[in-house]
Amino acid sequence: MKLFVTMLFAAMIIVNQSTDAHAADAGGDGYAGSRQCLECHADYYHGWKSTLHPYKFQTATPAAIVGDFTRNNTLNIDGHTVRMEKAGDKYFIHAIGPDGKEHAYLIKYLIGGFWKQLYVTEFPNGELHILPAMWIVETQKWQRCKNWYRTIYQISCTGCHNTGSQLNYDKATETYKTTWADKGVACEACHGPGRKHIEAARNKGDVYATIINPAKIPDIHRAAMVCGSCHNRGTTPDGKYGYPYGYKPGDQLNFMFTEKPKLHPDHTSKANRQQYVDWKKSGHAREGVLCWDCHFTHRRGKANKAQTKLPGNALCRSCHVVGQQGVHAIHSVNNCIGCHMPALGKRGVKGDVHSHEFRVISPADSIAAGGVGKQPNSCNLCHYHKNDDPAKLLEILERIKKERRDRRVF
Ligand code: HEC
Ligand code: HEC
Ligand code: HEC
Ligand code: HEC
Ligand code: HEC
Ligand code: HEC
Ligand code: HEC
Ligand code: HEC
Repeated sequence: MKLFVTMLFAAMIIVNQSTDAHAADAGGDGYAGSRQCLECHADYYHGWKSTLHPYKFQTATPAAIVGDFTRNNTLNIDGHTVRMEKAGDKYFIHAIGPDGKEHAYLIKYLIGGFWKQLYVTEFPNGELHILPAMWIVETQKWQRCKNWYRTIYQISCTGCHNTGSQLNYDKATETYKTTWADKGVACEACHGPGRKHIEAARNKGDVYATIINPAKIPDIHRAAMVCGSCHNRGTTPDGKYGYPYGYKPGDQLNFMFTEKPKLHPDHTSKANRQQYVDWKKSGHAREGVLCWDCHFTHRRGKANKAQTKLPGNALCRSCHVVGQQGVHAIHSVNNCIGCHMPALGKRGVKGDVHSHEFRVISPADSIAAGGVGKQPNSCNLCHYHKNDDPAKLLEILERIKKERRDRRVF
């Protein structure tokens, strides 16, 4: 009997492989799941749990839902009222489906909840879809999510919001039986599949050769790709997947992913999750200042949800000595981030994502693009009153820069 079950199981695996040759590449292989790491790395496990990474993608439970499903619970989309409903412990969104009729879609999973929260339903064929209404945390309002039933979660999202995804697509029946090692961004998203490492630890094998420590990847660019595999925007070279299908920590990302960032006219980032695209252009990338030199990955940062190792300026000042002189004497030098990491991108609301080029965007760039509405700059993001003319700010900036050169001060 036991043998029969094993054979049946093996047959199922073979069927899966023949119907989707890519399934194993999607990452299902060799993953153990974060619970398995707890036993030997409890500090890292609990530290990681205090960051936002684990909570990206969760089962929809009352505790995890932040949207208002009882009072402020409707949204008008093209003249049709989409209605959000709570029934006991279950949540539904009533919306027009691909057949043009209204359905009550059961929310199975949810994504996010710190900036915005999106709701995921499962179609009968196993396809996951983002429902058409999302909740914006900052404004406490419902907002439209476009093209909802045309975007298949397994094709466009799973690689960056789950760990060890196994799509299990069956071409013959056009169905998905997708599984994950972890629902959120877990240990193995940054350290690679861990099953062999655990076997090695239990059997006196080589615990180092069997797991990736990003800080030990010798080429800093390849090291940063560990974060860049998700903090990025684009598609696989064939245009099919929205994430680097099959990428594992230590791989060469640029062979597997074609970047298609959303940019302002001066090529600074316009959208969220482009930190890696920005960072590559910075002096920090040239000198090997990596994401984890500034961010914790296994511990919540001091005083902010961006997990920085030190709050605000203290982070910059831990490496840079900058005095109140030259351009830094325009006014208080105490907002390095305000000038060098202007909040240009958008996740939930406009301006909640910081540029990672660390470059001061000059008012000259706005003038060249036809105004601050077309191209924001570091100065006008704070100086946004009507009389804060970018040309005036530019003149002050250029005068000081010139004086700085003349007097050789910085
Ligand atoms: C049975 C114990 C055990 C389990 C389970 C285990 N590890 Fe380890 N791990 C070790 C030992 C021992 C070392 C080497 C000493 C050290 O760095 O603590 C190690 C080292 C590491 C390192 C550092 C490697 C390096 O080159 O610096 C990483 C990263 C790591 N483990 C990740 C994981 C992840 C991820 C999991 C879960 C998938 C996991 N470990 C599960 C025992 C274990
Ligand atoms: C978002 C990416 C990310 C996630 C998720 C993550 N780590 Fe790490 N981990 C890193 C990076 C980067 C380093 C090396 C730099 C550092 O220590 O911050 C590291 C280092 C380590 C080390 C080695 C420390 C040393 O120097 O010996 C261990 C052990 C480890 N992680 C275990 C885990 C475990 C266990 C989990 C899940 C509970 C986990 N990590 C989740 C990115 C991550
Ligand atoms: C598998 C995809 C993935 C990988 C790999 C990954 N991240 Fe993330 N990261 C995310 C997602 C998704 C979020 C959004 C979490 C949220 O908002 O709930 C996030 C959020 C963050 C945040 C801040 C919290 C926030 O939402 O603003 C920081 C900081 C961060 N990541 C740094 C890193 C660093 C550093 C690395 C590499 C060591 C890394 N990440 C690797 C997907 C990933
Ligand atoms: C290439 C990787 C990648 C892909 C593909 C991707 N995301 Fe993300 N997503 C991220 C990262 C990284 C963040 C957090 C960093 C940021 O927003 O700047 C994020 C943030 C989010 C957030 C905000 C979370 C919060 O706490 O507010 C939501 C919601 C989200 N993504 C949904 C989706 C959906 C839906 C898809 C598919 C249509 C998708 N993502 C595809 C990487 C990705
Ligand atoms: C020199 C330091 C530094 C480096 C290097 C760095 N960051 Fe950041 N990062 C910051 C600061 C500062 C913030 C804003 C913190 C705040 O909100 O106060 C931030 C914010 C973020 C956020 C939150 C969303 C946003 O953009 O505001 C994410 C996600 C993030 N960083 C990811 C990354 C990734 C991925 C890398 C590497 C490609 C990286 N960071 C490299 C300093 C750094
Ligand atoms: C871990 C150390 C470290 C931290 C933290 C750090 N920097 Fe740097 N920074 C460097 C190094 C190293 C360089 C390259 C050498 C140089 O150009 O001086 C650099 C270069 C720069 C440059 C010149 C960039 C260029 O393109 O030439 C700017 C501007 C800058 N950093 C701003 C910041 C800001 C703002 C922060 C805080 C958000 C910060 N740095 C945090 C180490 C750091
Ligand atoms: C009022 C805006 C403003 C503030 C605040 C500010 N900077 Fe700057 N910073 C500038 C400008 C403008 C430049 C010159 C950039 C240029 O020439 O394009 C500059 C240049 C730099 C450089 C040299 C870059 C190079 O090209 O050599 C570093 C490093 C730097 N700043 C770090 C910091 C740090 C660290 C802080 C916080 C303690 C800080 N800045 C605060 C506007 C600011
Ligand atoms: C983080 C917000 C912030 C950013 C970014 C910022 N400023 Fe300011 N600026 C202020 C505030 C607040 C004041 C008034 C208080 C003060 O002088 O510190 C001010 C005052 C000024 C003044 C009048 C100073 C005086 O002595 O009368 C000038 C000129 C100025 N800023 C130019 C600039 C330029 C040029 C930039 C871009 C390189 C810039 N600011 C970026 C917030 C900002």
